[in-house]
Amino acid sequence: MLSVRELTKTFGAPPDRLVAVDRVSLDVNDGEFFTMLGPSGCGKTTTLRMIAGLEQATSGSIMFDGQDYTRVPPQRRNIGMVFQSYALFPHLSVFENVAYGLRPRGVAREEIASRTDEVLRALQLDRYRDRLPATLSGGQQQRVSIARALVYRPSMLLLDEPLANLDAKLRVQMREEIRRIQREFGILSLYVTHDQEEAMAISDRLALFNAGRLVQLGRPRDVYRHPASLFAAEFIGRANLLRAKVLDRAAGAAKVMLPGGGMVAVPRVVALGDAETARVPPDADALLMARPESMKLGPIEGRMPGRILRAQDLGGTNRYIIAAEAALGELTVEAARSAPEYGEGASVGLALNAEECVLFIRPDPR
Ligand SMILES: Nc1ncnc2c1ncn2[C@@H]1O[C@H](COP(=O)(O)OP(=O)(O)O)[C@@H](O)[C@H]1O
Ligand SMILES: [Mg+2]
Repeated sequence: MLSVRELTKTFGAPPDRLVAVDRVSLDVNDGEFFTMLGPSGCGKTTTLRMIAGLEQATSGSIMFDGQDYTRVPPQRRNIGMVFQSYALFPHLSVFENVAYGLRPRGVAREEIASRTDEVLRALQLDRYRDRLPATLSGGQQQRVSIARALVYRPSMLLLDEPLANLDAKLRVQMREEIRRIQREFGILSLYVTHDQEEAMAISDRLALFNAGRLVQLGRPRDVYRHPASLFAAEFIGRANLLRAKVLDRAAGAAKVMLPGGGMVAVPRVVALGDAETARVPPDADALLMARPESMKLGPIEGRMPGRILRAQDLGGTNRYIIAAEAALGELTVEAARSAPEYGEGASVGLALNAEECVLFIRPDPR
């Protein structure tokens, strides 16, 4: 449905030229909820604005529904947009705010009313039909701005950090709400966020951006389990990194030795890019990445030693922050309620489920 190819945007002229978006390619399917995720300044908004036609691409193409959108002016792209700021008219009622944009489009008066009421019902805003925006909560105001985008019956919905102004609890509620609305309307949606947890929770697929480039694309769980770079491993979820020496390597798998003498077989090996190779300390030739739920605590004998720095009770699970010789930085281990509990300062042995780990290796191991 939406097909973006080699999309590039540069700002300014040499020597101050900035490549804000660097040859980004992606396809989004009809009805899909697709998220662009990445740290601030990585080019998410600029990519979205080019798709909306609010920013002209320096090069590359945008195809939508068989049409070359690169040359279609924004008002003819039939796109609904939702921003971080709700930008509602304070002196107009909820109904008037949503109906507003339909008038200049020559929609008949009766149809304006029926379409507006229909969208208000779908978003469970009908009760607030005659209220002014200032009398609504932040979440309700954001829903009005989504209603305003949907009332045009756009063929694509673009949302740029729509929840950034809401407090943490409401953000979680509203993201479920957005997902429900999106499913109900079955509309292709492109969502922008810097919040990895939000992206994981609501996306069919996501594209991870870094410094203007799309660095990984896939289903949230696949990117979490199989990060293609240290950046992806650390940006999405928590990544524990352990120094490792490679003993044997064959066809995508490796056998490694960890400090303390433990030997493990890792089914997944990823070669580091130039920029990330420096993260491997001189006394190692690879970094073993383990997620918090892929590590276990137990008796010290025969395991990597560590010391509990902090024990956090998360209700359903215990989270331990641990110092260990073998690790780069602190480790985070999450353990089920049923597992033995440890107090702060305790010495523990660390084991890992190597099946679930990824080995990040220097391009040419010594
Ligand atoms: N109109 C502009 N003029 C110059 N630089 C810009 C402009 N818009 C964005 N940028 C720069 O482009 C880069 C990407 O910005 P943006 O797409 O807003 O990132 P994100 O939405 O991921 O935070 C940033 O370095 C930003 O400062
Ligand atoms: Mg942005």
